[in-house]
Amino acid sequence: MGFNIAIDGPAGAGKSTIARAVAKELSFIYVDTGAMYRAVALYLMELGITAEQKDQISEKCQDAHVSIRYVDGEQQVWLNDRDVSSQIRKEEVGNMASVVSAVPAVRQHLFQLQRSLAAENNVVMDGRDIGTTILPDAQVKIFLTASVETRGKRRALELEAKGEKHSIEEICQDIRDRDHRDMTREISPLRQAEDGVLVDSSDMTISQVVQRILDIYREKA
Ligand code: C5P
Repeated sequence: MGFNIAIDGPAGAGKSTIARAVAKELSFIYVDTGAMYRAVALYLMELGITAEQKDQISEKCQDAHVSIRYVDGEQQVWLNDRDVSSQIRKEEVGNMASVVSAVPAVRQHLFQLQRSLAAENNVVMDGRDIGTTILPDAQVKIFLTASVETRGKRRALELEAKGEKHSIEEICQDIRDRDHRDMTREISPLRQAEDGVLVDSSDMTISQVVQRILDIYREKA
């Protein structure tokens, strides 16, 4: 097994920015598991499958072949032989990802891919259930969070940079809905691992959070 750093937390807590920076600092690979759920969601949306069609989701997700490629250290997400890295970033795909990720067959489908990446590499992996379910033996487990308002503001800026305009209220409501779905689902709900370290980034800069995680890493390495 490689050295594994698991970073879990709710939507918009800054997991991907932080995880990417920590990985770069340590020359580990960064694995964004949310992107994998987004790719499956995109596949199902393109088939015209809706959030209510749980049986169809369970059946058709099996045909979504997701893979991760690294080009110049950047992660690309491929779906059935096409690069969907930017398409999966749309807000509607994120919302569908949050729905399909509660379907056991979808989680099962991605489990092996996530496990094998961590077995073969030193990784910083971010998601919702990495420290609790996917990599229970990870040497470092972080639960990264921030207030809904902070997360909403960050998300709005991110979307704006991509030319998508949404009101802060709409984004905060989306975040609350997504948190609720992620935390109350039956399978692998979002929660802090018992041996995880809580980091609240509401009043911290990106580099402060990165340093905090590097300090925790150095204690364990
Ligand atoms: O992190 P991101 O917003 O890209 O994730 C999209 C959705 O995928 C989340 O709202 C969550 O429901 C789901 N997800 C998950 N388990 C993970 C990563 C993401 O259920 N490990």
